[in-house]
Amino acid sequence: MTQSPTHLFSPLTLRGVTLPNRIVISPMQQYSAAPDGLPNAFHRQHYGRLSLGGPGLLFTEALAVTAAGRVTHSDLGIWSNDHLPALAALVADIERFGAIPATQLIHAGRKGSVSRPWEGYSPLDAATAAKGSAPWTTFSSSAIPANRGWHVPEALEADGIKRLLDDYAAAAARAAQAGFRVLNIHAAHGYLIHSFLSPLANHRNDDWGGDFAGRTRLLLQVVSAVRSTWPSDRPLMVRLSCVDDEPGGWTLNDSVALASLLKAAGVDVVDCSSGGLAERTTTKMVRRPEGYQVPYAERIRTQAGMPTMAVGLITTPAFADAVVREGRADLVAIGREALHNPHWPLHAARALGRDERFDRWPPSWGWWLEKRARAAALAETSTDATGG
Ligand SMILES: Cc1cc2nc3c(=O)[nH]c(=O)nc-3n(C[C@H](O)[C@H](O)[C@H](O)COP(=O)(O)O)c2cc1C
Repeated sequence: MTQSPTHLFSPLTLRGVTLPNRIVISPMQQYSAAPDGLPNAFHRQHYGRLSLGGPGLLFTEALAVTAAGRVTHSDLGIWSNDHLPALAALVADIERFGAIPATQLIHAGRKGSVSRPWEGYSPLDAATAAKGSAPWTTFSSSAIPANRGWHVPEALEADGIKRLLDDYAAAAARAAQAGFRVLNIHAAHGYLIHSFLSPLANHRNDDWGGDFAGRTRLLLQVVSAVRSTWPSDRPLMVRLSCVDDEPGGWTLNDSVALASLLKAAGVDVVDCSSGGLAERTTTKMVRRPEGYQVPYAERIRTQAGMPTMAVGLITTPAFADAVVREGRADLVAIGREALHNPHWPLHAARALGRDERFDRWPPSWGWWLEKRARAAALAETSTDATGG
């Protein structure tokens, strides 16, 4: 591993966008919207507090490209122009506090039409419909449910794929119009695009199935549709489940090969996640080591010559800094750690000696905190001097 002068707080320029540091808040669905898919007061507070925390790039949760592409009735969406004003207001707030606003486009495919995680994360049915949450028809590569007892999806036909590509293109145009500067296509975690990539879910024998070329066709078509409306000076990322973590599934070698194709298609960063093809791989409790997906980001970065973002249990500033310094990934994304501590990036700068005087904090906080820290240091010295 090579040490380089690049570190967690080095800027990174991707196309026409310069990120002030390498810390990214990972997309995290909040399942807190009304069925109209519009951000509300909760979202404004949630993203406001995260943007004040000092990340270079701040992803909103995934935005559904169609109403049927939601996971739950409570997801945010970008399927109509009605979403634009509220999303634009969210973007303005994120930008005002120094983070670069980013978003992610999702179609949940066969993992849609479920209840919220804390309400069981189970398929909607007659009982939920009676309470106002009716199920909807889900789609996938093949008519195979994500898990036993889940909705049997409809296999997308060619005309459905054509409509889907139009939906992605329109959603990307709206994301640009709302002011997002970086866009991420969600092709991971068992959602619609992943269900085309993985041989475990995709049993088609037409142009969108079969071999590697067939199974990757939909994603490459989505990238092309998105690139046709997403401005050429704004970066595009793709989130992959780099491995399925299931026998006979998508492999890291597949991800390396796909990354080269994505690079040629105008994608700037591969966002390296894993798993999630079936419900059980999403919710099972497994002990993982810190940064367990970093090796995927490292392999793709080295072998495909593609910038990567590492994500998954990156919890300590020293580890995050080492990932960037050692050239294992270009960006590190923080998820749950930022829910626990929305100021994680500011604390990381302090811990790494990159913010001695709280200069990165909003001045109305930093001015006081610097004095507070000095007073605490003085108190410590005087305690030492008295031998206490
Ligand atoms: C509440 C929650 C919501 C999530 N929603 C999304 C999402 O919208 N899009 C996505 O790609 N990943 C989503 N994820 C996965 C995270 O982006 C991240 O990859 C995962 O939590 C691992 O990172 P962590 O260990 O830092 O939390 C979500 C995770 C959580 C905890």
